[in-house]
Amino acid sequence: MRIAFDARMDGAERADWWRALTDALPDDEWIDPIAEGTTSPRWREADIAVVANPLPGRLANCTQLRLVQSLWAGVDRLLADTTLPRDVPIARMVDPMMNRAMAETAMWAVLSLHRRAFDYAAQQRRTQWHPLPQRRADEVAVLVLGLGQMGRTTALQLAALGYRVSGWSARAQQVEGIATRAGWAALPAALGAADIVVNLLPLTDDTRGLFDRARLAQMRTDASLVNLARGAHVVEKDLLEALNAGRLAYAVLDVFDTEPLPATHVFWFHPRITVWPHAAAQTDLRSAAAVVAANIEAVRRGDPAAHLVDRSRGY
Ligand code: NAP
Ligand code: GLV
Repeated sequence: MRIAFDARMDGAERADWWRALTDALPDDEWIDPIAEGTTSPRWREADIAVVANPLPGRLANCTQLRLVQSLWAGVDRLLADTTLPRDVPIARMVDPMMNRAMAETAMWAVLSLHRRAFDYAAQQRRTQWHPLPQRRADEVAVLVLGLGQMGRTTALQLAALGYRVSGWSARAQQVEGIATRAGWAALPAALGAADIVVNLLPLTDDTRGLFDRARLAQMRTDASLVNLARGAHVVEKDLLEALNAGRLAYAVLDVFDTEPLPATHVFWFHPRITVWPHAAAQTDLRSAAAVVAANIEAVRRGDPAAHLVDRSRGY
């Protein structure tokens, strides 16, 4: 099988991926666009493309593709490339290790908000000793938006910690021990009942700008937002306005409109925002290389690849 590898990432990370993938499938013919160029016949005749943020247009002249395999879970940027061959299946990265990493980050954020870790960190910077009221975990309502791979694992882990967890998705989903709701009509009530909202939705035409002024106003003034999905889910100026006006208590943000977050961005310095560098759930190349290999083996056998993207839904 001829496999085109196109990953826009720093050199060392790229070399690690190349090694892990070529070790996982040593008998296949791997093509590196940097070494070879994307106009070479070998590139144009690739059977599979394994990609991470490929430059738009790069796959347009690969006419024999049988699968595009993303190394990332979110495919919003990939799908934004209108030159991507329409009929080629796209598989996204689904890896239990990544779901687990996401759940760990969400648990850290929820525990930190619930146990006032961000407030105490601020107190420490001021050498201030001031115990704050303590709540039980089962008094804290956590709403998880998105009940897919990441959301489901996260909701279950938060419930295991004792939080009162509910979930929201596009279509009705059942998750054991979790109260679930589906569809736009159910969202205002779900938001209004939550102390902490954890966003794990994909970025699509429907979810872009979800947290705008109106939606943030549906949240309680003492509630917090944890955005671990995509920066464009949040209208940054509306979030800032809500925090500054006391209409929202706190925001934990892993993702931003512009990444890396510019050094002068107000979020870095805001007393009620915690910033992470898009690291909530990094793809783990050890397990992910095996996921990619399994999908390529499926194509080789003539079976459908796993975790195909529904282009009409955008995720
Ligand atoms: P997934 O398995 O595709 O799950 C998506 C969930 O969102 C599904 O439950 C889906 O509903 C729901 N959804 C989609 N559109 C919706 C809408 N309009 N209204 C209500 N619910 C909607 O995705 P995943 O693997 O969990 O990943 C989620 C996102 O996490 C990715 O797209 C990516 O952007 C982000 N991510 C971030 C990081 C990071 O490090 N920060 C790492 C990995 C992923 P249905 O169940 O009804 O389909
Ligand atoms: C990371 O954000 C991913 O989508 O895998």
